[in-house]
Amino acid sequence: MAKVAFLGLGVMGYPMAGHLAKAGHEVTVYNRTTAKAEAWAKEHGGGHAATPREAAAGCDFVMSCVGNDDDLRSVCLGEDGAFAGMEKGAVFVDHTTVSAKVTRELHDAAAAGGIAFVDAPISGGQAGAENGALSVMCGGDEAAYDAAQPVIDAYARICRRIGESGAGQMTKMCNQIAIAGLVQGLSEALHFAEKAGLDGRAVVEVISQGAAGSWQMSNRYETMIDDKFEHGFAVDWMRKDLGICLDTADEVGASLPVTALVDQFYKDVQKLGGGRWDTSSLVKRLRAMG
Ligand SMILES: NC(=O)c1ccc[n+]([C@@H]2O[C@H](COP(=O)([O-])OP(=O)(O)OC[C@H]3O[C@@H](n4cnc5c(N)ncnc54)[C@H](OP(=O)(O)O)[C@@H]3O)[C@@H](O)[C@H]2O)c1
Repeated sequence: MAKVAFLGLGVMGYPMAGHLAKAGHEVTVYNRTTAKAEAWAKEHGGGHAATPREAAAGCDFVMSCVGNDDDLRSVCLGEDGAFAGMEKGAVFVDHTTVSAKVTRELHDAAAAGGIAFVDAPISGGQAGAENGALSVMCGGDEAAYDAAQPVIDAYARICRRIGESGAGQMTKMCNQIAIAGLVQGLSEALHFAEKAGLDGRAVVEVISQGAAGSWQMSNRYETMIDDKFEHGFAVDWMRKDLGICLDTADEVGASLPVTALVDQFYKDVQKLGGGRWDTSSLVKRLRAMG
């Protein structure tokens, strides 16, 4: 069993850190809002620290799941950052969805201090984090990945190293690109069913068993039909991710016309007040348009 720190106890991080404690690791948590760290320590019996540096001190592994590029920099770097507390040979594993650029920057900064940095973004949503069934896509040095994988396994259904530093984040971009068009397609199908006077539940019962079936269809159709979106993966986060995908597409010369269009549709959802709604709220935008 390892000595592990977990930084960022949000929708995803809180249950992920819980799985580490349940697996028997010695876990210390840090959260910007201390009340959440106190609640976690009370529930799981681990320790909590006032700064990322303090949480990371003496740990074999430091995991993070914060918001965006700047948030990740702020928990890694500086006087109170995790890198300042980590010993040579320790491994930092980042689960935040960020750009490959900041990942490589932090990988190199960590390497200068003898620390390994593995990018390990996740897919599977809140339910995947709570059930310990996430897909984890990794980039970084092979030896560091091999050391971290048994720890990550506490909350993973599948964990794979795709390549060198940044490859995990590039894979997560593929995931978000694939989801964007898919959720819009599902929204259009359910909107069409409503307008045509069909029973949406009956429609999904049959088409989900055929070629149109998907995770989004199976897990989101009921709340989409019921017009409920106060759960799941926030539109604000999705726009952050699609921004990363579109910027990176320019760098690598990929063409993403549907992703760019769906990003604009999510902008409309934000204007409807849906920044924290689940990404399946694209159907609400269609309803709002009549
Ligand atoms: N939710 C999902 O379904 C899902 C799925 C896959 C990937 N992701 C990705 O996973 C990451 C976290 O998502 P989430 O849904 O768990 O978000 P969340 O519930 O908003 O939690 C974000 C966490 O990051 C912390 N944080 C934010 N900025 C910080 C900063 N500057 N310094 C220190 N801590 C900071 C927050 O602390 P406070 O408590 O103080 O605010 C909170 O603990 C995001 O990159 C998201 O895109 C999310």
